[in-house]
Amino acid sequence: MPRDNTTSNSGLPKVLVTRPIPQEAIDKLSMHCEVHVHPLDEAMPAELLAEAVRDVDGLMPSGVLVSKDIIAAARKLRAISTIAVGYDNIDIAACNQRRILVTNTPDVLTEATADLTFALLLAAARRLAEADRYVRAERWSRWQWGSLWGVDLHGKTLGLYGFGRIGQATARRGRGFGLRILYSARHRASEKIEQELAAEFVDRKTLLRQSDFLSLHVPLTPETRHSIAAPQFALMKPSAFLINAARGPIVDEEALVQALEAGRLAGAGLDVFENEPQVHPALMAMDNVTLLPHIGSATAETRLRMAVLAAGNLLAALRGDRPPNLVNPEVL
Ligand code: DGY
Repeated sequence: MPRDNTTSNSGLPKVLVTRPIPQEAIDKLSMHCEVHVHPLDEAMPAELLAEAVRDVDGLMPSGVLVSKDIIAAARKLRAISTIAVGYDNIDIAACNQRRILVTNTPDVLTEATADLTFALLLAAARRLAEADRYVRAERWSRWQWGSLWGVDLHGKTLGLYGFGRIGQATARRGRGFGLRILYSARHRASEKIEQELAAEFVDRKTLLRQSDFLSLHVPLTPETRHSIAAPQFALMKPSAFLINAARGPIVDEEALVQALEAGRLAGAGLDVFENEPQVHPALMAMDNVTLLPHIGSATAETRLRMAVLAAGNLLAALRGDRPPNLVNPEVL
């Protein structure tokens, strides 16, 4: 096992960071904590994580399952500060039982994730990944009138399923490209936001029926898991594209494959998958599907902001303050 990168200051709260993160965030933590950083940029194996959390006060996970077994193993744990906006990987009910504070990193990744969502939309509409493969395969022997036609964006309808921060930032980009914006969400946005983004609130069936690009922006919860499945694909236009930079299991991937194979959907742009890092082999073989390796927030500036924000959240929680970005205020 490689040695971890440990900053030791005995008597201070002990913190485990599950991956290497920018030094600025480590330095911030180290001023008040004894910090242990898992040295490999990969999900810590469950047994190793269970052992490593045994005597920590704070945990800063990233891309790793924090199950109830892990929480049970962490007998001193007081706070979990995930370096992500999504926290579906953390057993919140188990945290609530132990009154463990859980925080996330919203806002700082909104624009980067909306950019990536829009990049997927453009890639799907204009067949960018396929065109890149075409050039690299040296198939581009002459300019052709009929080669690699995509579809226009302007005048089309962008449907946003979920209209939180990232959904709204995607709407803003959509407006710039001349798209009509529809959204469906649990809570209707304020009139001010609807006007500013020229976004129209519709029910989910209308959203599915009218969208030329359906982009997903809901969190992964028991209610949203597989909420885009065969019945939803049946309502969509055969010319429509599905864009998902939210969470893979929102979509029933098998049903997506079937819809694409049957021509009931024109294509998809996917940054997330049901069983990451595995991708359904049928999707791998489809030219009308753009596949990215979960890089929604992966820019240098954004990842630094996420790490520093997560460090601040954890320090506040360990100090006994109400941390910013607390996702389970019911424990207070
Ligand atoms: C997030 O912030 O939730 C990203 O998907 C990284 O996990």
